Amino acid sequence: MGSQDDHTDGTGRRALLGAAMFGAGGAVLGLSGTARAATAGSAGHGGGLKSLPVPTIIGHRGASGYRPEHTFGSYQLALDLGADVVEAGDLVPTRDGHLVCRHEPEIGGTTDVADHKEFADRKRTKVLDGVSTTGWFTEDFTLAELKMLRAIERLPANRPHNTLYNGRWEIPTFEEVLKWQDEQTRRRGKQVWIYPETKHPTYFRGLGLGLEERVAKLLHKHGKARRDSPVILQSFEPTSIQRLNKLVDNPLVVLLSAANTRPWDFVATGDPRTVADLITPKGLREIAGYAQGIGPTLDLVITKKADGSLDKETTLVADAHKVGLILHPYTMRNENPFLPAEYRKGTGADAYGDAFGAFKRYFATGIDGVFTDNADTGVLARQDVVNG
Ligand code: G3P
Ligand code: CA
Repeated sequence: MGSQDDHTDGTGRRALLGAAMFGAGGAVLGLSGTARAATAGSAGHGGGLKSLPVPTIIGHRGASGYRPEHTFGSYQLALDLGADVVEAGDLVPTRDGHLVCRHEPEIGGTTDVADHKEFADRKRTKVLDGVSTTGWFTEDFTLAELKMLRAIERLPANRPHNTLYNGRWEIPTFEEVLKWQDEQTRRRGKQVWIYPETKHPTYFRGLGLGLEERVAKLLHKHGKARRDSPVILQSFEPTSIQRLNKLVDNPLVVLLSAANTRPWDFVATGDPRTVADLITPKGLREIAGYAQGIGPTLDLVITKKADGSLDKETTLVADAHKVGLILHPYTMRNENPFLPAEYRKGTGADAYGDAFGAFKRYFATGIDGVFTDNADTGVLARQDVVNG
């Protein structure tokens, strides 16, 4: 891991503006209305979930709108742009049991592994959560081997400028992230929060590479397994969150995909329930028994019409709040293809639409935060809400 300056390049003006408005660490002080004032947590602790500004701006995979995702370049920039929390990282294991930050075990689309002739024979086709997937998988590499690779932009058609940074950063480990968090907290004088996710926990447990114990061990080792630790844990598999609930005291969030889908752990154990069952008052009450929040896809907050435009606001925000759960939906992105149809501008796949308009509509539902690839846009959109 390099110094702060090593990770901070490029975005100059945007970063400076963010720093000027929100302070070096992005603290939002003195906000009123729908936004709650933030206070920095005591050193080494986050002050609990309640210390975060609301709506909380979560840097999705770092600042992945501007840098290859899950790199220290991306994480660093998310903080510079004012993110309150950095999703560092999506966690997958190596063959020798280390946790590394990649969105998926398959790394063909996010690293230069295909250019490494020495790893050509590692290419496999596997069934991952029921889906046939071809490529290179982290569980087939030692950490030392993965460290030979470099990250590349996953969405070059939408983010051609980000390819400038292809090859610049290596794959971070979770332990490096925990140290980086402390280093950044010291440098910025403000508690840095992270939001790691256990990826495909049932799949990896089947390979003898259980994730939760490894996450818990590192959190305990670094003194970050407390209720007020600045680390929120998330997973699409409710049983992973239940397992974590027995191992650590951190805030926990159950991710929710489309209503008609089933979490993979449910499929594996024959639990017939779908996400639609989990978001009923009964399902939410059950989640509130072991988690502090939910991370629904935005479409569960406001449904979409067939043409991709927004339709009806659901009762999910009210229902979740009624049982004491916070909501951190995913994922807001500035580019046209990822926005609701009425907020697109033109047809360019790499062009920005009216992201501020979309943020405003989602914030008006009362969500407690949002995962976004563009933390600076999210911070300004929150400011718009606060200023009316
Ligand atoms: O974790 C929130 C969001 O990141 C969930 O989706 O697939 O990007 O991990 P994914
Ligand atoms: Ca994630």
